[in-house]
Amino acid sequence: MKLSDELIKLREKSIPKAVFQTSRCVIDHAKGSAIIDVDGNEWIDFSGGIGVVNAGHCPDKVVEAVKAQADKFLHACFHISMYEGYIRLADKLNRITPGLFEKKTFFANSGAEAVENSIKIARNYTRRPAILCFEDAFHGRTLAALSLTSKVMPYKTGFGPFLPEVYRVPFPYAYRMADGNQEKANRIVLDKIKTAFKNIVDPENVAAIIFEPILGEGGFITADADFFRQLKELASQHSILMICDEIQTGFGRTGTLFVSEQLGIEYDIILTAKSIASGLPISAITGKADIMDTPQVGGLGGTYGGNPLACAAALATIEMFEKEDLLSNAKRTGKIIQEAFLQFKEKFTCIGDVRGLGAMMAFELVKSRQTKEPAPDSAKLLMAHCHSKNLSIITAGTFGNVIRILSPLNIQKDKLAKGLAIMEEGLAQL
Ligand SMILES: Cc1ncc(COP(=O)(O)O)c(C=O)c1O
Repeated sequence: MKLSDELIKLREKSIPKAVFQTSRCVIDHAKGSAIIDVDGNEWIDFSGGIGVVNAGHCPDKVVEAVKAQADKFLHACFHISMYEGYIRLADKLNRITPGLFEKKTFFANSGAEAVENSIKIARNYTRRPAILCFEDAFHGRTLAALSLTSKVMPYKTGFGPFLPEVYRVPFPYAYRMADGNQEKANRIVLDKIKTAFKNIVDPENVAAIIFEPILGEGGFITADADFFRQLKELASQHSILMICDEIQTGFGRTGTLFVSEQLGIEYDIILTAKSIASGLPISAITGKADIMDTPQVGGLGGTYGGNPLACAAALATIEMFEKEDLLSNAKRTGKIIQEAFLQFKEKFTCIGDVRGLGAMMAFELVKSRQTKEPAPDSAKLLMAHCHSKNLSIITAGTFGNVIRILSPLNIQKDKLAKGLAIMEEGLAQL
């Protein structure tokens, strides 16, 4: 019996089925954009552990930094004994996040925890209860974050009741809402928010609007600078905070460190996680200093938040972004993917839309271009084909009909080309 089969059998016996798997890959080790499974097969990684290894698997400098930290201490709890890595990383994030205002940062362990904390801070600062969020949004799986996450099955079914005072409006999904006309989609959504402020929730009770600048799990749905400018205007009219969730869009994915830079997004709090530390669990909550300083002493924190190994990994990852050409790699990789996807769209009528920014690219599979009926079964078949050829890819979208790429930004050209060829082969078989 292959080791992977043996481990999968044991996994089925030992681990709940709700803890989902997208492939049968059981990893042994990984480097760059290659994953070697326990049976010795090499996989090309187009998933990046869901957008976590933008700088590649196990970059030497990050591994060295983690090892050096491990030799010193593994844990202190920042509330009990402070340490340099936490302080330096907070200072670094305050400087590299967009916006010239004074900022403060603290750390948690996961994206969902960052979301939870941002809600606590927004409520504490504004003394208002309500949060506005978007359809097709994904903000995590802990209960408050899950209340903000949109998709019902499988994320929310059977897990309620959820946080009260959460109000949801559509995201300007131009492809489905306005035949690709972004301006029209923006108008529809902004009108809906204005209407919601008249007949659903008093804007004076809304603490914050939380948004992903590009929907990640929701299917790489993009909006434009104009939408976020108008959203900010609306928020400002009612003193509502803007919480920008860059957990998936961040850390170079779109060709700039944060996509907010390209979209001119003005936020009060920005959330980062995933690729910030090349795989060590950490998330950052960064915001305007006066807002971040409002909650009472002891109101924020936790045992592990800003773990020393994760801080060392994040500082080394940021240094890679500063000293190496990861951002230009993101642009180059993204361009190759975009060109390939546009060619696929010309060739295969099952592709309804190609979209994204930088190396955050996706296509949407439909049963017919006229009806735009989502084709999740095609996405499953395509994913199965790719997995059978040892290409790791994942789907996205409320209907699961979007194929997205979250490969390392510095993926080698030949691996990228091989992966795209496998996708094309799979599309031809649909
Ligand atoms: C935009 C966004 N926010 C929040 C999260 C939740 O992060 P985590 O899975 O680390 O809790 C994710 C995870 O995919 C995400 O993409």
